[in-house]
Amino acid sequence: MEIEKIKNDVKNMLSKERYTHTLGVEKRALELAKIYEVNEEAAQIAAILHDMAKELTKQEKLNYAKENQLEVDEIEKSSPGLLHGKIAADMAKKKYHIAEEVQSAITYHTTGRQNMSMLDKIIFVADATEENREYADLEEIRELSEKNLNEAIITIINFNIQENIEKGKLLHPNSILARNQLLIEKMK
Ligand SMILES: [Fe+2]
Ligand SMILES: [Fe+2]
Repeated sequence: MEIEKIKNDVKNMLSKERYTHTLGVEKRALELAKIYEVNEEAAQIAAILHDMAKELTKQEKLNYAKENQLEVDEIEKSSPGLLHGKIAADMAKKKYHIAEEVQSAITYHTTGRQNMSMLDKIIFVADATEENREYADLEEIRELSEKNLNEAIITIINFNIQENIEKGKLLHPNSILARNQLLIEKMK
């Protein structure tokens, strides 16, 4: 697969800031893939493509989902921003014929899901811990993610849930399912 070509396509779809974020996620995903011995090319491709649909307008996201028969749940209907992973995965599948595991990592990069694969986990964590992010605990979570990936995911989901609650936003059940499962595993 022509990674440079894909990168160039994505660059043309995104603002400068979002493309910088994308390159940060690529770098972080490769670092984590090395540590956890996950297919590096798969991690790189998922990272490059994960936000390719992020800058479509709400209406464009809803239209894309409709035209391409993507399932849209009640939560996504009211917060179409949540659809950007699902749409990116569908676009990437049709445009670049990416593997199913890569599609999954792109689809669930914002919410997580139950039974996350290692690749899902790496993209989820890379998205939240790339070097251009700015939040108080970034360095701590970056370190944690290199020692205990599951614990890092729990921390990130907790942070996201708290933020959504403070802003009065909806919670996506996939985040709750991911969190519950990781907590249950931890208690075993
Ligand atoms: Fe995203
Ligand atoms: Fe992202």
